[in-house]
Amino acid sequence: MKHDLKILPSEITSETNYHNRRQFIRNAGLAIGGSAVAAALPLSSSASTRELETVPGPYSTGEEPNSWEDVTTYNNFYEFGTGKEDPYRNSGDFVTRPWSVKVSGECGKPGDYDYEDIVAPHTLEDRVYRHRCVEAWSMVVPWVGFPLADLLRRFEPNSDAKFVRFKTLHDPKRMPGQKRPVLRWPYVEGLTIAEAMHPLTLMVVGVYGKELPNQNGAPLRLIVPWKYGFKGIKSIVKIEFTRRQPKTSWEISIPGEYGFYANVNPQVDHPRWSQASERRIGAGVFAPKQPTLMFNGYQDEVAHLYSGLDLRKNY
Ligand code: MTE
Repeated sequence: MKHDLKILPSEITSETNYHNRRQFIRNAGLAIGGSAVAAALPLSSSASTRELETVPGPYSTGEEPNSWEDVTTYNNFYEFGTGKEDPYRNSGDFVTRPWSVKVSGECGKPGDYDYEDIVAPHTLEDRVYRHRCVEAWSMVVPWVGFPLADLLRRFEPNSDAKFVRFKTLHDPKRMPGQKRPVLRWPYVEGLTIAEAMHPLTLMVVGVYGKELPNQNGAPLRLIVPWKYGFKGIKSIVKIEFTRRQPKTSWEISIPGEYGFYANVNPQVDHPRWSQASERRIGAGVFAPKQPTLMFNGYQDEVAHLYSGLDLRKNY
């Protein structure tokens, strides 16, 4: 698959990005070490996650990232509760090593792969992406990861691999939110093979230059920055190459509200609210909402994936 990608001016300043990253880490250290913040928030195990060796990656937005505190205390991870601070408060004891991923379906190299096998061959990149939740809030997040395409190619998908299905761990003892039927567990997501192979699609292992905190989906989660945040499935244990379009958790739960594609689209409202604008977390309660960008601002890179598709029907 060949992609015609444009290099944004912000990507050329990769060294600056790298230095910015060091600054983020210092800020992160301040945020978790500062006594005022420490007094206000309980310390979670994620505060001590390991620093990762990374290089500046392409496609970073020039926007100022949200703080470590925003990124790690305002989360959606229903396996640890449905409140925004629940994942931060309830996931501290979640043990993510050893971890393995079962790869199956239409590929030449199915099998069980340890976390280390999955990650070790890849160079970890810093990529600052816009992160847009379907609930009409957004953040800018400095993820650490590597292109999902580079991982999937290692499993040698065959010509019948039209879609990729991902599953989260299902273990109600370790993920207490799974004791309640909020969703049909485990959480399932899917992409077309073209979406999965697109160089913006990231297999994420960290944030702010550190290993992924549990509440953000440790140890492996997906980020597809032109889609609503729910496509970014967390704590992945299964990857399957399929011939047919998989049913995803939110589609199964509320099919009238959530479709398979879930591309960020200001012109298609959620049935219960508008998607035309978004509230940037951390901007303050009086900050005006900002207009939502088509494909979350990644239109030049991804619009060609949907040529000929009616994006109103294929929401
Ligand atoms: N993955 C799992 N397994 N369970 C979840 O509840 N929530 C999704 C997505 N991935 C979710 C998940 C939603 S709705 C969003 S907006 C993003 O994770 C939030 O990612 P963040 O908490 O790192 O910002």
